[in-house]
Amino acid sequence: MTHYRIDALRQTLVLAAPSDGLPHCTFWGARLPDGADLAQVAASAALDLTGGMLDANPELTLCPQTAAAFPGQPGLVVRSPDGTPLRPVFTKAGTKRTDTLSLAYTDEDLGLTLTFRFAADAATGIITASTTLDSDTPVLCDWLAAPVLPGPQLADQMIDFAGRWCDEFQPVTTPWATGIRARDNRTGRTGHEHFPAIILPARGCTNTGGEAHALHYGWSGGHRMLAEELPDGRRQIQFGHATASDPLPGTRFETAPLYAAFSDTGLNGCAVSFQRHLRDRIVTWPQPDTPRPVHYNCWEAIYFDHSLAALTAIADRAAALGAERFVLDDGWFKGRNDDTTSLGDWTIDATKWPDGLTPLIDHIHGLGMTFGLWFEPEMVNADSDLARAHPDWILGPTTQPLGRGQYVLDMANADLRDHLFTQITTTLSTHDIEYIKWDHNRVLPYNDAAQTRGTYDLLKRLRDAHPEVEIESCSSGGGRIDFGIMAHTQRVWLSDSNDALSRLRIQHDAALFLPSCVTGSHVGPRTCHTTGRIHSISFRAWVAAQRHMGFEMDPRELTDAEAATLTKVTAWYKANRDWLRTADILRLDAADPAIIAEQQQAADGTRFVVFAGHAGTSTQIAPRPLRLTGLDPAASYTIDLANREDISSLSRGTPALKSGPLTLTGQSLMSQGIALPYDLPDSMWIIEGHRA
Ligand code: DGJ
Repeated sequence: MTHYRIDALRQTLVLAAPSDGLPHCTFWGARLPDGADLAQVAASAALDLTGGMLDANPELTLCPQTAAAFPGQPGLVVRSPDGTPLRPVFTKAGTKRTDTLSLAYTDEDLGLTLTFRFAADAATGIITASTTLDSDTPVLCDWLAAPVLPGPQLADQMIDFAGRWCDEFQPVTTPWATGIRARDNRTGRTGHEHFPAIILPARGCTNTGGEAHALHYGWSGGHRMLAEELPDGRRQIQFGHATASDPLPGTRFETAPLYAAFSDTGLNGCAVSFQRHLRDRIVTWPQPDTPRPVHYNCWEAIYFDHSLAALTAIADRAAALGAERFVLDDGWFKGRNDDTTSLGDWTIDATKWPDGLTPLIDHIHGLGMTFGLWFEPEMVNADSDLARAHPDWILGPTTQPLGRGQYVLDMANADLRDHLFTQITTTLSTHDIEYIKWDHNRVLPYNDAAQTRGTYDLLKRLRDAHPEVEIESCSSGGGRIDFGIMAHTQRVWLSDSNDALSRLRIQHDAALFLPSCVTGSHVGPRTCHTTGRIHSISFRAWVAAQRHMGFEMDPRELTDAEAATLTKVTAWYKANRDWLRTADILRLDAADPAIIAEQQQAADGTRFVVFAGHAGTSTQIAPRPLRLTGLDPAASYTIDLANREDISSLSRGTPALKSGPLTLTGQSLMSQGIALPYDLPDSMWIIEGHRA
């Protein structure tokens, strides 16, 4: 038996690898001391036997095997092309340890090789793992799991994510019990409903304290997740592509990377690892040191009603408010007057834009803003030149139900990809365009990994050809957010909801994985278009300033007072965005469930800002104190309210924050917290802190 340890900052994974079978994980948790005896670790994990059990416990290996009498779900389901089930028995073939650990196993009779790869990131604390199946002859692979890990025993619940359009990232908490919790997203894209991740909090874990394990599957094509508790009490977590993603026989199948995090500082420890890993390892930034520009996106201002006169007037106002990048949304291309036609025809509409887009782009540049343009490359309307010329490029039968009146294109088709590349690259090469908003407004007719690979390929080609252009992953809002798509993009449109109250909650839960610098958040219209609610400009602006800030209302609707508030908050964002770009988002455990609060903390711990959002009516009348986290207990911090002008006449008392700064130890801030001034629901306090 050979033992391997994989260490990443705060976590250790230990594998035991026999020569006559697959390896299994003997430990996954807090970092073990150097020199820990790994054989003893494995010995301490071995289970006893009693009546009603086999004479040996089949191991929960990195790919549990049916042939090994494993009593739970297998990690590999493979068949010969005629459908005959194959039951491989793997033995060790080779090991390679460089920066990564690679363990290969073969079944020589069946000509199958299974390879597990692990990489550890000492700075972000993430362990990345994947599995590959190679076959000498074509086989059908119904299921291939990324390296299968044991679920923690001292855990009563698991958290995965559901959601819907305009209400993404809803945590779903399920008690552990014998049997399976399964998620199988067959829609062909990540989906509002299916963020591919699981968090396994130990008993008593909160945002700020306790242990948690977490996994994210970095793939945009739909995932399958199994969290199974066996009758003997063991737990296993499997992630892979959604069922039937690779329906044809092949000689190579591989999972997407599975990202593993562990924390002994509450959910925040896992969140910070994911945030840092996405920001510093997955996203490739054309200009890493350039501040995140404030966006203006015209969608909710004008929809399809494009005119140079209106858009230049809007741009003037947006620039005066502080916008630095102007994104021309849907509606600019040939015949696109509503959402029933024209997808696929990526040439400029000559009626709306008789002189092309250049006059608008020049105007935008003249205001000192960069210019971005909307595309939805993977889609086509039946009423389009593309569909008329190439009905064969549509994915699935033309009789299928449409989504937003549109079909999906078959991205596995290289000719189609060439065509899309030519259309987009021509637009980019003939105009000064610094940004693409890449939309995807429907699910696929069926899931197919080749579709996702095709999209990744097109994105890669475009990025290689235009390395200076940033891309936003938008998918009716947050329908395609995962580390797979983020390897090709720099921003996500988190949700189509510009409702500040909804957004506050969505942002809070998405921060379990996403750093602020990739998470788009816009100040919407006074009356929200997706909820009909009206929120103050202060609340709307501060919620947007929590992430990568932008505006999306028609700025001509703003009163002078609203414009002044928005200008002020935007200036605050610009003054702070440099350090916020690399800050960690720490979710706070608010004593009042009506408060959604977070602390964005500089990487060096010298400063922080707390956003305390009031998301509902509190049961008690006086605000409960808010406890901070992650501070040096012995250090002193000066804290001050950044939006004192939002104190209303309903606050009649004298909590210290109302009148000026306070200096407190980290211990005091973390143990007792700060009493907030009274405020109404749908408002936010901003508290800035500096280490003295
Ligand atoms: C859905 C996006 O999420 C919106 O922001 C907008 O770009 C529309 N599509 C345009 O059709």
